[in-house]
Amino acid sequence: MAISAKMKDFVANGSMIRKMFEEGTRLKAIYGADKVFDFSLGNPNVPPPDIFKATLKAVVEADDPDLHSYMPNAGLPATRAAIAARLAAEQKVPVQAKHIVVTCGAAGALNIVFKVLLEPGDEVLVSAPYFVEYGFIADNHGGKLKVAPTKSDFSLDVEALEAAMGPRTKIVLVNTPNNPTGKIYSAGSLEALAAAMKKAGSRYGRTIYLVSDEPYRKLAYDGAFVASPLASCPDSIVVTSYSKELSLPGERIGFAAVNPEADDLDALMGALALANRILGFVNAPSLMQKVIVRLIDQEGRDKGIPACVDVSIYQRKRDLLAAGLKAAGYEFFLPEGAFYLFPKIPIVDDNAFLDLLKAENILVVSGAGFGAPGYFRIAYCVEDKVIQGAMPGFARAMEKAKKLGK
Ligand SMILES: Cc1ncc(COP(=O)(O)O)c(C=O)c1O
Repeated sequence: MAISAKMKDFVANGSMIRKMFEEGTRLKAIYGADKVFDFSLGNPNVPPPDIFKATLKAVVEADDPDLHSYMPNAGLPATRAAIAARLAAEQKVPVQAKHIVVTCGAAGALNIVFKVLLEPGDEVLVSAPYFVEYGFIADNHGGKLKVAPTKSDFSLDVEALEAAMGPRTKIVLVNTPNNPTGKIYSAGSLEALAAAMKKAGSRYGRTIYLVSDEPYRKLAYDGAFVASPLASCPDSIVVTSYSKELSLPGERIGFAAVNPEADDLDALMGALALANRILGFVNAPSLMQKVIVRLIDQEGRDKGIPACVDVSIYQRKRDLLAAGLKAAGYEFFLPEGAFYLFPKIPIVDDNAFLDLLKAENILVVSGAGFGAPGYFRIAYCVEDKVIQGAMPGFARAMEKAKKLGK
């Protein structure tokens, strides 16, 4: 056997979303693309803003001799400064360039943060439902995921999190707006969480860091306010990316930002830069760093052009989907942000229901993979016609489920 037993296990259990995506490709080849309704992958379908393309062209044509060069592992100074200024203004935390490490997406940022903070056996505490990759990334660095429930409306259950904190808790990880629920955590709950972490930290004689995974921060609906975990807790780190807010998931560009009040700040920053190097990222893509700095400058100083996709498009898709599902009798909370909807499965047997959807050529992801059996995730970052086309199938699956009974 060439691969390790652990990887064999991960390959078998860990590729549920990708498997669905591949199933979609298979079904499309049989039935035609317009007869398959693939809601499996969070691959943004809203194009990057026009200003992105123009800026990318300008950067390529600028004849910059360093365009494709190596650079400091933490990123280009100008990019770090622009990111810090924007973040400080938005989240009211005095972050500076030296507190930023530019990364290969939010996943790259999570990897460097976990590498730097975790001792073997340390715990990363997270609320379910949670993003599937967290367990793998914690494992990459010898950590273990510990899972606490959320409340029935998917809001943070701070008491449950507090009860789950123990002597091995090193990180509490929050994701707001949330994948897969679309929930935005309230400022009050984040403050209560920070207080609980401080209490547990002094009980166990260690600093517990709040890591805020927030690639969907800009995708909030109905003008919803996305409270800042960074502002609520001094020992905090943001990990995020432009994958969703600029629709650039394939370009692998994001950052980690450390609260200037964080414990052991200087050592933390040095270690994060080194982790970026030795995990093999070396640095985030140069071309994208040069684009990002210009986009932020244009947004902030020169032209006031938002460096963000048109969020109203996702809101319209959410409303279209929610109206159809409601009419068909599904139970769900209306997402406040991100582009996922997480309805209840109406019968006891999750797989039997997902099979009913699959028989309608509707591909979704089981909630079990997100630590929430009894639910399924619909990624509605798809064309409107996919949502519209799927509605009769969603309704028929519900009717069949009702006949099956609980
Ligand atoms: C909650 C969450 N965190 C992190 C990521 C990783 O994002 P990136 O493409 O920036 O690495 C994703 C991607 O879907 C996500 O949903």
